[in-house]
Amino acid sequence: MNPASRPARRRHRPRHQRPAPFDRFLFGVAYYPEQEPRRRWKQDFARMRRNGVRVVRMGEFAWDVWEPRRGVYAFELFDAAIALAAEQGLQVLLGTPTAAPPRWLSAAHPEWLRQTADGRPVDHTGRQHIGPVHEGFRAICRELTTALAAHYATVPAVIGWQIDNEFHCVGSLDFSPGARRAFQGWLARRYRRIDVLNTRWGTSFSAQTYASFEEIPLPLVSRPDGYPPHPGHLLDFHRFSSEVTVAFAAEQSALLRNARARWLIFHNGLFAHLDYWKLSDHLDLLGVDLYPGFGGSDGVKAGAWAAFKLQQCRAHSGAFLVPELATGAAGSQRRFLETPEPGQMRLWAWQCIAHGAVGLIHFRWRTCRFGQEIYWHGILDHDSRPRRRLAEFAQESREIARMAPRLKGAVRDTRIGVLIESEQDDAHAGVLECFPAPRHQAEHLLGALRARHLPAGLVHARDSFRGLDALILPSFGHVSSPLAARLRAFVQRGGFLIATARSGTRDGHNQALARTAPGPLAALMGATVEEVGGLRTPLLSFVPSGGDPILAQPGYELLRPRTAAAVACWTMTGVTASRQAHPAHGAPAATLRPLGRGRALLLGAWITAENAAPIVSWLAGLAGWRPVVAAGPGVEVSRLITPRGSLLFLLNHSAEPQRVCELEPARDLLTRRSTGDAIDLPAFGVAVLSQR
Ligand code: GAL
Repeated sequence: MNPASRPARRRHRPRHQRPAPFDRFLFGVAYYPEQEPRRRWKQDFARMRRNGVRVVRMGEFAWDVWEPRRGVYAFELFDAAIALAAEQGLQVLLGTPTAAPPRWLSAAHPEWLRQTADGRPVDHTGRQHIGPVHEGFRAICRELTTALAAHYATVPAVIGWQIDNEFHCVGSLDFSPGARRAFQGWLARRYRRIDVLNTRWGTSFSAQTYASFEEIPLPLVSRPDGYPPHPGHLLDFHRFSSEVTVAFAAEQSALLRNARARWLIFHNGLFAHLDYWKLSDHLDLLGVDLYPGFGGSDGVKAGAWAAFKLQQCRAHSGAFLVPELATGAAGSQRRFLETPEPGQMRLWAWQCIAHGAVGLIHFRWRTCRFGQEIYWHGILDHDSRPRRRLAEFAQESREIARMAPRLKGAVRDTRIGVLIESEQDDAHAGVLECFPAPRHQAEHLLGALRARHLPAGLVHARDSFRGLDALILPSFGHVSSPLAARLRAFVQRGGFLIATARSGTRDGHNQALARTAPGPLAALMGATVEEVGGLRTPLLSFVPSGGDPILAQPGYELLRPRTAAAVACWTMTGVTASRQAHPAHGAPAATLRPLGRGRALLLGAWITAENAAPIVSWLAGLAGWRPVVAAGPGVEVSRLITPRGSLLFLLNHSAEPQRVCELEPARDLLTRRSTGDAIDLPAFGVAVLSQR
């Protein structure tokens, strides 16, 4: 399962199109034997098996069980649980428990406790209270990982490992004095000379010049007086934090692979300030923990939120895992996610598969009776009685087991790529946070493309663009020369490239470029930016040639076509005739340039929740994008291409029945019935159409 044993075709595809590195579908639940009476384990595993579980994920917080005292390892509890699971034919995914350092460790090393962005220390009250920035902590984690790896290498039921748990979730960044020293060391290795750092960051602003690396503080992201940190300083701190986490994961991954090369290594994301592209280099599969209720009570909104997460994971990993999928109401101190309606959990499961998931682990088997998450519901309630969630889970598991052989080698059909790269968001947040971030624009774009049933998905900016017809670059401030060259080649080969406001305006240290915007993209776009401005109240719309006005917020770029032609102009909206004209009024808002076999469109506006849909309609008209089916916006459509034909997933995220039309006759693999050119989906219903 390690990279060396991956089939060659997997390595040479664009990453977002990689199929699964194995043939079966991993389906199961998270289970915490350390939280259950032993007498219950056997019946739990038997009941899981009866309800379709194949894989159990466990151990990711059980450091205090495995190493109750420093250097003293106790494997008995998990050995016994794993043996009982194996008796039922279940396989086990374990977690390195390094997100939950035990009390003996935090008591011995209070200096390793994390500090928050406003400089306050956290204590030993949950998880992620110690971070991998401390070399001493890392050494202890290596010892633990080595001991666990050696012990379980010969246990056949253990098929893989989750590394740590949700890096950068609760305890995202560490602002402790130890972190400051490590950051200073990282900066010294990166820049070697302090004057180089001063120049690259641009420290001659408000007397921020440093005489030595030891002088550099941490960029406290919430200074008590609210003044923001220096953007170059902050960006490097986020890079440093990401590199520390990736290095920590890499060393665990290497230790595990060294013990057993066939283990499946994964991690469960996705959170901020972490370069998952680099992290994925050390994993077989990236995972995304999915609680669609975070997207809102409305099913359609929750589905859109989940689709974006799933696409993020797919963009980094190709085939991916969902190590945690919601099962019930989820309530903790400051959060409450509603109970999935009947059919909705199964719908989310199929949605994961429709985006490329090759394994689903529901969170969790039974709701915990103690601790911070007693209302974060599992499949079973505290009393273990069989209720509708268990019945739905069993239905889902039967269906997935039946479908699994058809999913072999599947890759998602994606023609329109929306580019993402986490560092762009970190850079963006360092300066103009109140404007739509690249990530948020990507989310609005994907939502609008998805609502029109277009074959769109997220693509990582470092991935190959092969196989894509169109690419949208949402306000990437830093467009490196290699990226600019790849975008030009994409257009010349016949691609349609769209870039939005402020693209190509900064360097890799978050300084503004002295070149006229869009800097490295200006020649490709055949246009430059003459003026940029913000609008606190909506004042301008841009009017595509022959189209209706589209409202622009929170700003505008007034473009000057050079070799391109204007395809939209700014116009003032809703103001009295006597008001002086806005300088953008009548000026180009978008330009289009044919180049080679393709075209490049520069749009001097940001994508927002309000304007994404009309912008996508306009672009679809320009580019000739055709919807895959005809259906209401609550229906999601996704196609997987497999060696045996294609699978068209129709997912109704709304609580109302929906009709999907303009279908080719096919066979619904869930109902095993032939279908005609239309199909009716019940509320939260799913169909999977097999097409040749
Ligand atoms: C996830 C985490 C789980 C559990 C769950 C519910 O973020 O990985 O361990 O805490 O949320 O809160």
